[in-house]
Amino acid sequence: MLAAVAGLTQLDETTCAGFRARLAAAGYDGGYLATLENIAGNMLQAARDPLLRSHLARHAGPAATLAALFCYSYGAPAADAREALGATLADALEAAGVIHTSGGATISPFLLIPLDGQWFLSDRLDAGADAVMGPGMTTLLMHRWLAAFPCERTLDLGCGAASLAIAAAARGARATATDVTDRALAMAAFNARLNAVAITTAISDVGAALPRGAFDLVLAQPPYVACPEPGGASTYLHGGRYGDELAMRFVTDSAALLAPGGTALLFFDSAVRANDPLPPRLRAALGSAPVAMLALMLPGASLDAHAVMTASSHHPALGDDFARSAAAYREHFESLGVTAISRVILVLRRPGEGSANALYRVALQMPGAAHPNPDQLAALVGALDLAALPDDLLLLERVRAVPGAHFVGEWDDPGENAPARLKMTLPEGSFATSRELGDRGWLMFGLLDGARTVGETVPLYAAECGTPPDQALAEVLGFVREGLARGLLCEAAPV
Ligand SMILES: C[S@@+](CC[C@H](N)C(=O)[O-])C[C@H]1O[C@@H](n2cnc3c(N)ncnc32)[C@H](O)[C@@H]1O
Repeated sequence: MLAAVAGLTQLDETTCAGFRARLAAAGYDGGYLATLENIAGNMLQAARDPLLRSHLARHAGPAATLAALFCYSYGAPAADAREALGATLADALEAAGVIHTSGGATISPFLLIPLDGQWFLSDRLDAGADAVMGPGMTTLLMHRWLAAFPCERTLDLGCGAASLAIAAAARGARATATDVTDRALAMAAFNARLNAVAITTAISDVGAALPRGAFDLVLAQPPYVACPEPGGASTYLHGGRYGDELAMRFVTDSAALLAPGGTALLFFDSAVRANDPLPPRLRAALGSAPVAMLALMLPGASLDAHAVMTASSHHPALGDDFARSAAAYREHFESLGVTAISRVILVLRRPGEGSANALYRVALQMPGAAHPNPDQLAALVGALDLAALPDDLLLLERVRAVPGAHFVGEWDDPGENAPARLKMTLPEGSFATSRELGDRGWLMFGLLDGARTVGETVPLYAAECGTPPDQALAEVLGFVREGLARGLLCEAAPV
């Protein structure tokens, strides 16, 4: 059952400032939550609950009370809740419907999650089909990535609790948060007040109600889970029969909403099916929009893990309903011929006014790659710009292997002249993964050492390989573009 949100408007700026101060003074912050989330962190919530309850009881205090009330929905003794919140705030929250007290116990129908010095009110995901999603693990990644982009006019498309818009506003953006449900917008407006930032909210079916070409940064984590039962969809979660159908509409609209020079960052899962690969669908979704695209496809959860995790978000207490739901998700994938889940990081770049950049559109499988950190993401976006240069301009650039790359030969037999394998190794924490190189790859990295331009490399490569000039040109340009997009090459400092 979704709790009423109408009462949230009663909580004015002054009450919100008091709420913030209480949460901060109690130490109910992201660091505290991270400690709690480390307790049996990779297990289902129902399995974690006994240990969490025991931890909160052993480390009682205002932060533990607030976590019990607002993070894990355990409720708290009314006296503890009143002490943690203060009597005046507790009364205001009770009147607004954020907490309910009866029989000496206080509970909240909402979640209130701390993240990066802010707090976000949202719904429990099992509360109903229109539950408003607050920051979860994937939102956390989007929060980190935000830092990689200039965010003057930011759009949080499909905002849920609007944690992305609010984080951008706190960084100085003019942020707009839009969603298809009124409930999300009510929560977004409250969260902006709670965090003392100004955002604009608007109801919109994807981008339909929004001005084209008006945003420097578009952030979206569309619903992307495959829906086994037609008519049983949750707004925050399901993106169609396969799951990624709605994401394609977000792709189309994000491209249309970008201002010249703008960037869109979308993050979603895509069910892998042999007869309908993602890259052509992404290109079709973009059509003739004036944007370059970099789609990175990382390995997602296994189909089994995905089914279990999704079913447990509907039925956190597990039991028969959970069992039926998990089996239904798993069987649904089977019936659709889905073989795996890809995690897609999609970057769209609209060239600035007067830019000669080609609308370079590339989709790369990145087996083994970890999620990039903000610096790595910023470097990838810079690399996309470089890769999108027209051939004649790219030939004038200098590129080199990314910092930390080492090139090593491995011998199986010390008597052999040539190594059995040539490898490019990258340090721990790199976005790209270490790899074996063929002879031509090895040669290419050797020539592209930043000392000469890409164009100066072409005749050397042609001579070494005995390749006709046209073919050498195409191979060098292809190698440079792919290396940039995969995070293996970067722009070299000018010599
Ligand atoms: C996975 S949640 C992401 C919420 C939030 N942006 C985050 O990252 O935590 C997807 C959001 O998209 C919204 N949504 C679903 N269908 C939509 C549509 N057709 N147009 C706009 N938003 C939609 C949902 O209401 C939900 O808030």
